[in-house]
This record gives sequence, C-alpha cells and structure tokens, in this order.
Amino acid sequence: MANSVFPRLPGFRDFPPEEFALRAHICEAWRRVAHRYGFLEYDGPPLEPIELYVQKSGDEIVNQLYSFTDKGDREVSLRPEMTPSLARILGARSRGMSKPIRWFSLPQLFRYERQQRGRLKEHFQWNVDVVGEAGLAADAEILAVAIDGLRELGLTSEDFVARVSDRGLVQILLEVLGVPEGAVAGTLAIADKLGRTPEAAVQEKLVTDVGFSDDLAKQVLAVFLAPSLEDLDAHVLSDSRVSERITSFREFVARLGTMGLGEYVEVDLKIVRGLAYYTGVVFELFDRKGELRAICGGGRYDRLLELVGGEPLPATGFGMGDVVLGELLADRGLVPTFQRELDYFVVVVSAQERPEALRIAQALRESGKSVAYSLRDQSLLKQMKVAGREGASVVLIIGPGELERGCFIARDMTSGEEREVVLSDLV
Ligand code: HAM
Repeated sequence: MANSVFPRLPGFRDFPPEEFALRAHICEAWRRVAHRYGFLEYDGPPLEPIELYVQKSGDEIVNQLYSFTDKGDREVSLRPEMTPSLARILGARSRGMSKPIRWFSLPQLFRYERQQRGRLKEHFQWNVDVVGEAGLAADAEILAVAIDGLRELGLTSEDFVARVSDRGLVQILLEVLGVPEGAVAGTLAIADKLGRTPEAAVQEKLVTDVGFSDDLAKQVLAVFLAPSLEDLDAHVLSDSRVSERITSFREFVARLGTMGLGEYVEVDLKIVRGLAYYTGVVFELFDRKGELRAICGGGRYDRLLELVGGEPLPATGFGMGDVVLGELLADRGLVPTFQRELDYFVVVVSAQERPEALRIAQALRESGKSVAYSLRDQSLLKQMKVAGREGASVVLIIGPGELERGCFIARDMTSGEEREVVLSDLV
C-alpha cells in the first residue's frame, strides 16, 4: 500500500515551532498589556451546551457552530466565542465578588466559516472584559487596552484605526426615523454588511427584507453613512434623546483623547457589530489601508449576564483575533525572525567524558540555563555543527586532558574565543 499523508482539515492550522513563535509573540504581548491594566486571566471549557449561543449570540454565529449531540444525548458546541462562557461563569459566582470584575482570556475558538483571507475555522482570540461597571469610563478603558495590545506589537496609528459607534444611539436614531422596534434587529444585521456590500444593495435589502419604503430605506442608510455626527439630519439632531446620547458618546471619545489615544479613534456609525447582545458603545479595529477584515471587535453588552441566568450586571469588552493580526504584522515587517537559542551545548571528545558532561549539563540546567548535547556518540566536528544549528551561545568542550584537570573549555560561538573554566565560573 502506498504511503498516504493525512491531510489537515481545511481552515485549521498546524503550529510547528517556526509558526508557534509568532503565536507566542502575539499572546505574550497581549498578556503583558492585560496585566498592565490590572486584568486577571481566566479560562473555561472548549465545549459548551449549545443553548448558551442560541438566541444570545445571533443567527450569524449560530449558523457557524461546530455542534453535535454527545454520547449523553446533550446538544453541545465547540465555543465560537468567549463572551457567553464568561457570562455563564460569572452568572454562577459574581454575587460575592467585588466589582468591577476585570478578566481576560486567550481561548482557541471554532467557527464553521467559509475560509477566506483573515478568516479560518479556528483562531485564538484575546478577550478582555470589564463586568459590573455601567459608566463610559469602562468602555474607554476597554478600547485603550485593545489599542495598546496592537501598539505593544509595534503597530502605530498609521497602521490601524478604531472605528467607534454607539448601538444605543443608532437605535434611538432609527426610532426617531420611525423604524418599528421589531425591525431594528433586522436593520442592524443588514447594516453590519456595509463596507463589504455595495450601498445600493444594502438599501435594496432594507426594502425587500425589512419592508421599508424607498424613502425610509434612504434615510436609514444616510444615518449609517453619516461622515460625522454633525452630518446627521437636522430634524434627527433636534430630538432631545438623540442630543443627550450624543453628548455622552462624545465624552467617551474625549476620554480616549485625554489618554493620548485620540489619533487611533474615529466615529463611524456603520459599525453595528454582527453579534446580537450589544447594547451601547461598539467598536472595531481595522488596518488603515482597509485591505483586511476586522482585527478586533467589541462593545457594551449590559443584558447578557442576566439572560444567561446571572445577576443583572453591565459589561463591556472585546475580542481580538490572531489571524488578521498576524497578516498585518507580516505586511508591516513586524514578525520577529525565528531564532533557536540555547545558553550552552556540551561537547565531548570521546565517550569517556560523557558522565562528566551529563553532570555539568544538569548542574547548569538547575541554575536556570538552557543546555543540550548530542544524544548519541558523534565526532567533535559533527557535535560542533549541531551546536551551531541549535543556536548555542557557548560550547563547552570536555576532552581527556580537561577531565584529568577537572575543568573544560568554553568557546564563545560569536567571537570564537576560548578559555578554560570550572563549573563554579558558570553557575
Ligand atoms: P467577533 O467580532 O465575532 O467578536 O470576533 C472578534 C475578532 O475575532 C474579530 O475581529 C477577528 O479578528 C477574530 N475572528 C472572528 N472570527 C474569526 C475567524 N473565523 N477566523 C479568524 N479570526 C476571527 C466576538 O467574538 C465577541 N465575543 C467579542 C467580545 C468580547 N465582545 C465583548 N467581549
């Protein structure tokens, strides 16, 4: 029988060390930033009851679930996002906890999405959430964390932008235009496609799918496409609920300016978010050139915890994926070159020095150094080659003469300099 290689499932990735290095580089930066802002790390199970997502996350994500019936007849799903799990976990324990709760996580998530640039069937997603604080200070803090997560990786305001909106404001605007309450969710779902779908097609869908008149569809579209808040229709702006909501939304934007992050933030009412549970400020981070899908998305979801059975707690947060981000870092030349690194490689001239080599290697490892050696007898030349390939900074050479004198030779692999040392010189 011919040898066959098992193919990898489409949309999934292997992480050999060269590729794992980029994932680790990204995740370590995310962790550093989360800790800098005082967030604590948590995790949950990768498999959840399907009920956790149905109706709470919205149709789009439910259609992408990796779900099945388990051997105990439970309807389960791999997690497509972390927010419902966070709501479930806190639902069971938030009552005794001091608020606000600041938690972050780095889960691997699974969505049966059509594979395209920046979208796979699995990804790692940095989730950062503040729970138990209704004020806009929490939203500003959350967006600042997201921006800093990208800055930590070397990206600047020339590389990315945060587009911010307020679903609460958009909802009021739609009401003022006369959109019935029952049509709001459908309108938002269609508007979420703006930017990826031609405007005329979106307007057409508002007529055919939501049942708007041509005139209402045009007015609704004008809200989403307004270049700035000042450009909204005067009749709409004169409504007191609209102007109040705009005032507080502006405070949120101004706060980010005070934090020195103003150059990263742009108001864009087209950002409505695909997920069903958002209630207030929402945002998405994009590459400036507009070539890639969203790098990050988030916002306020004040009713989800209650919906999942917990105490009613306001919440705000975001998810940032590693796939689009990896592409952006590669485009900007910000992917560090993969380098093997080792403090020491121990080389023996003959098998006779092997016991001493093992003793030295273990003593150095105990002192925290990284050490390797050939696992089989090899010529000196071969061992030196392996030491170079494995990125050793220093090679320790033991021959019969050194063994007799109780020392060994340390060769600096950069300068080529050699000196005689004893173990206590190195630990
Ligand atoms: P989301 O917008 O669905 O939000 O995902 C957030 C980010 O995850 C996206 O901007 C993208 O970078 C990445 N992402 C999503 N799907 C894929 C995919 N198929 N392949 C690669 N990357 C992907 C949420 O998931 C919310 N739960 C975020 C949140 C947390 N909101 C509040 N707290």
